Amino acid sequence: MIQIAPSLLSADFSRLDEEVKAITDAGADLLHLDVMDGSFVPNITFGAPIIKAIRPSSKILFDVHLMIDEPIRYLDDFIKAGADIISFHVEATDRVRETLLYIKERGVKAALAIKPHTDPHVLDQYIDIVDMILIMTVEPGFGGQSLIPEALENARYAKKLILQSGRDILLEADGGIKSSNADTVVKAGVDILVAGSAVFGASDYEKAIKDIRISALS
Ligand code: DX5
Ligand code: ZN
Repeated sequence: MIQIAPSLLSADFSRLDEEVKAITDAGADLLHLDVMDGSFVPNITFGAPIIKAIRPSSKILFDVHLMIDEPIRYLDDFIKAGADIISFHVEATDRVRETLLYIKERGVKAALAIKPHTDPHVLDQYIDIVDMILIMTVEPGFGGQSLIPEALENARYAKKLILQSGRDILLEADGGIKSSNADTVVKAGVDILVAGSAVFGASDYEKAIKDIRISALS
């Protein structure tokens, strides 16, 4: 079953509690939370205090996407804030295995993210411990960009690797996903579709999620 993870980045930040409740009621499977530090990516969003503040608004799974340098420094904060899944970038640290283990040992799912132009072979050496792989289909930093079709090659490679491993590893894609291309993304082997502007930018969240699901099934 394909899962939809709307990205809060495109929500109305002046009404976060209502937005989280609305997206939960609209049938989202996870809530994707984009944390940016203005260093790993050229944009700043929010950190653990905001995630902690909206945690009581919904029981939905919190899928935290860290776009920050040396993420291990802040893991305790995000875990305490209520993250269910934590993704960090392979490009952001030399301590990848240590960071994955740190997350897993604290009962949170650990995911490794790669940017669109990163060689996906880097994933090989971590396939024995990752719980999820996040394939970026845009350059991280901003919502509302167009999907880079070549990045789907990375998803195909990751899917092959996951199947070979025999492990239960989720594959998520993030960036530029909407109802007009969700089918292509799913055909590349993706299980979780992140969608920011396509959902929070729509007037009817339930319909927007449904449209993506219908496309994903076709
Ligand atoms: C980009 C973020 C994405 C973004 C997706 O750096 O990681 O999660 O919010 O937004 P859309 O779906 O609008 O591309
Ligand atoms: Zn994201």
